[in-house]
Amino acid sequence: MELILILLAAYLLGSIPSGLWVGKLFYKIDIRDHGSGNLGGTNTFRILGKKAGLFVTTLDILKGSAATLLPLLHYFSETAVNPLILGMVAVVGHMFPIFARFKGGKAVATSGGVVLGVNLPLFILVLVSFFIALKLTKMVSLSSMIVAVVGFIYSLIYYFQTGDFYLLIAIGLFASFIFYRHRSNIGRIKAGTEPKVKWL
Ligand code: G3P
Repeated sequence: MELILILLAAYLLGSIPSGLWVGKLFYKIDIRDHGSGNLGGTNTFRILGKKAGLFVTTLDILKGSAATLLPLLHYFSETAVNPLILGMVAVVGHMFPIFARFKGGKAVATSGGVVLGVNLPLFILVLVSFFIALKLTKMVSLSSMIVAVVGFIYSLIYYFQTGDFYLLIAIGLFASFIFYRHRSNIGRIKAGTEPKVKWL
């Protein structure tokens, strides 16, 4: 029973559509009707500005981290489940949220939050790589995909050093989700029409 409840809690955490709720609650705007139509942090930045974008991105990161930390709750202390499994469930929740008719985000920030919850050096690596990629390309989508590859290479090296198969599987899945959810961005990048950030 505890196992089902902890998986459900991870899914519900991931399902929180931060961008959608922040937009509707504080700005009376459904961000899915604007910009890329995505409810993630990038589109929130684009449509509602830096403050809202940063807030939504932080919430999307934290919900991934929170899912990995659920076993720390007293009620779940006896439940044997790998935090990465909870993180993967949260990312699935983020992509298919019950609170937004199962149409969710592109898996970037929440995957990052899961990484923050389980492996701080990898989180720092992906964060630094992200800003270097963003400085060079000016495209959040392309930078996210570059970081997905960087993360996967790290987890591969980590696997050969430690034998940690869970991290490799989780990052492999996150990277696949990220590429799959960026199909429309890939089309725009190829066509040269992907929006670029101006503030970096
Ligand atoms: O995190 C999503 C980002 O990589 C792309 O978002 O709104 O430009 O499609 P968007």
